[in-house]
Amino acid sequence: MPGQAFINAKKKGRKLTMLTAYDAPTAALLEEAGLDFILVGDSLGMVLLGYASTLPVTMDEMIHHAKAVRRGAPKSFVVGDLPYKGVVKGPGQTLASARRFMKEAGCSAVKFEWNAQAVGTTKLLVKNKIPVIGHVGLTPQTAAKKGGYRVQGQTATDAAEILKKALLFQEAGAFAVLLECVPVPVAREVTRRLRVPTIGIGAGPYCDGQVLVFYDMIGFSSRLSLRFVKRFANMSAAAKKAIERYQKEVKEGIFPKFKHGFKMKREEEVLFRTLCNSI
Ligand code: KIV
Repeated sequence: MPGQAFINAKKKGRKLTMLTAYDAPTAALLEEAGLDFILVGDSLGMVLLGYASTLPVTMDEMIHHAKAVRRGAPKSFVVGDLPYKGVVKGPGQTLASARRFMKEAGCSAVKFEWNAQAVGTTKLLVKNKIPVIGHVGLTPQTAAKKGGYRVQGQTATDAAEILKKALLFQEAGAFAVLLECVPVPVAREVTRRLRVPTIGIGAGPYCDGQVLVFYDMIGFSSRLSLRFVKRFANMSAAAKKAIERYQKEVKEGIFPKFKHGFKMKREEEVLFRTLCNSI
């Protein structure tokens, strides 16, 4: 069972690491660094494709990026994130979408956000040998209906609902549960109560693992003000400087130099000039 290694990691108290990737070079970097999971998140809709939310993301777009990630990271545990358009019609459609991730893109597992049919869907996927990560707390695909992107589980009853959903995902066969934007005491209790690992984002220090959107983490996105994001590099500033230098050097004739071009044999060049006169 592929998820068992992560359950064992939890038992041993080894923290799990997950980052998103949407392309081959990023995936290769993550594989080289030895991340436990690479998530092809539907966040790519906002972070990479410029949509205002994750809702317009299609399965074709997800598969396109998941294939690139798999090419860049052939040995990693790659998780395909089921987008709203790939699950909205219910468990049958979710199974078909999950199969596309596994067969067309070579994913190792799928993740999907809690919905009214999440238990039956998880059972169906697991029965079809598709490992599942359940996503509870802030679920961006339904955030608009719940008053926007905000911390979930701040009242005792809402917090208890999150714990119930996490337990239901586990009992239905999910091998991990992702907790997004929930108060620290809630994440701590869910982590304590689950046998399977929790992976947090905006969920504090007590989860079994952590995930961030790669572009947020390296400081290359417009979402830098998010409280739960720690910026480990400032790639936007570095890229901005590089673009400014590039513009300046091209305009001033500093780049490209002769050494950046390709040579031609002297006799071919002479012949070429003769040919040019007859064109
Ligand atoms: O889509 C995504 O990248 C996610 C993470 C924010 C966990 O679901």
